[in-house]
Amino acid sequence: MLCLCLLLIRTGGIIPPVARQLHQENIERIVQQALSLSGVCVDELSAVATTVKPGLALSLGVGLDYSLELVQKYKKPFIPIHHMEAHALTVRLTDPVEFPFLVLLLSGGHCILAVAQGVADFLLLGQTLDIAPGDMLDKISRRLFLQKHPNCSGLSGGKAIEKLAQQGNGLHYKFKIPMERHADCNFSFAGLQSQVTRMIEQKERTEGLQEGQLLSCVSDLAAAVQYTVTAHIAKRTHRAILFCRRKCILPQKRATLVVSGGVASNQYIRKALQIVGNATDTNVICPPPRLCTDNGVMIAWNGIERLSAGLGIFHNTEGIRYEPKAPLGIDISDQVKEASIRVTTLDFTSDILKY
Ligand SMILES: *[C@@H]1O[C@H](CO)[C@@H](O)[C@H](O)[C@H]1NC(C)=O
Ligand SMILES: *[C@@H]1O[C@H](CO)[C@@H](O)[C@H](O)[C@H]1NC(C)=O
Ligand SMILES: *[C@@H]1O[C@H](CO)[C@@H](O)[C@H](O)[C@H]1NC(C)=O
Repeated sequence: MLCLCLLLIRTGGIIPPVARQLHQENIERIVQQALSLSGVCVDELSAVATTVKPGLALSLGVGLDYSLELVQKYKKPFIPIHHMEAHALTVRLTDPVEFPFLVLLLSGGHCILAVAQGVADFLLLGQTLDIAPGDMLDKISRRLFLQKHPNCSGLSGGKAIEKLAQQGNGLHYKFKIPMERHADCNFSFAGLQSQVTRMIEQKERTEGLQEGQLLSCVSDLAAAVQYTVTAHIAKRTHRAILFCRRKCILPQKRATLVVSGGVASNQYIRKALQIVGNATDTNVICPPPRLCTDNGVMIAWNGIERLSAGLGIFHNTEGIRYEPKAPLGIDISDQVKEASIRVTTLDFTSDILKY
């Protein structure tokens, strides 16, 4: 079964008209390249699958217009794809994961906890109320001028924090773990970002630094930020597992947690989630990094999943529109809140996580 996919690059920090122009300039070449590398022609495709939601309107529009022309010209079925659904299902390309499973999506644009009950059947347990963890780590990294640090040259913001955190003490500076009084599964990172920024400003004054100079304590700050972000994510995930068990949404034994998105490649966060998994008899799986970040393969895979399941395949594309905003599945975050599940303290022998 063959499926052509159109990837839409992530829009964080991209200027809309520029993004549209980039898409228009590249879409034909990328599609031709994908076809020639796989040695197939458009005629041989079973269907065309394209991201239609959520995302930046101008970019989604370029992909959709191009795809609709293609399916009309070649008389192919069309499969509209939800970007976050694609992230959630990618794991099934590499691992034999059966429904239902819990999925945690961590990236520069998203932070979502959901249950995948079927190819097109999701329960939303929680999501970020403000910014995403990848976005926050990037901003803190820039604010700390980590690109000037000798050990961080060429690293992205998130990777720079991870690298420096390895040589720092995560418990030397204390930040408040977000939303501790809310026993739900929503996330928040904006308040933490403000806390950290205030601490950086204070330290800069104390050390009498000029704009752009590195603080002496960058490693400890990076470690403390990473620790706090991780504790927040781990606690929400822990609660989600307990909630799903209580409501019999997931198997009582050996449930599966899939962690995906660009931030899922952070080894410290992974290890913390592994500890949560160990404590709750949950199998933790991360797709390989190249499938964790935004990619076209996952859109194609989602197309294949939908094609096999016979779900959401359009032969008449009239009325198909892109949707910049689109929730994933049915929002049951209120039920999670109602259950008011207190997460038991996980006390670890390794000092990585204590909450
Ligand atoms: C860079 O990393 C090395 C090895 O981890 C470490 O010994 C060194 O202190 C670090 N340099 C700085 C400026 O932190
Ligand atoms: C989780 O448990 C397995 C098996 O008991 C163990 O090998 C592994 O080190 C544990 N992982 C963590 C992060 O504690
Ligand atoms: C979780 O966040 C969503 C918005 O992202 C909101 O609609 C929902 O009410 C929140 N749930 C709780 C329990 O606060």
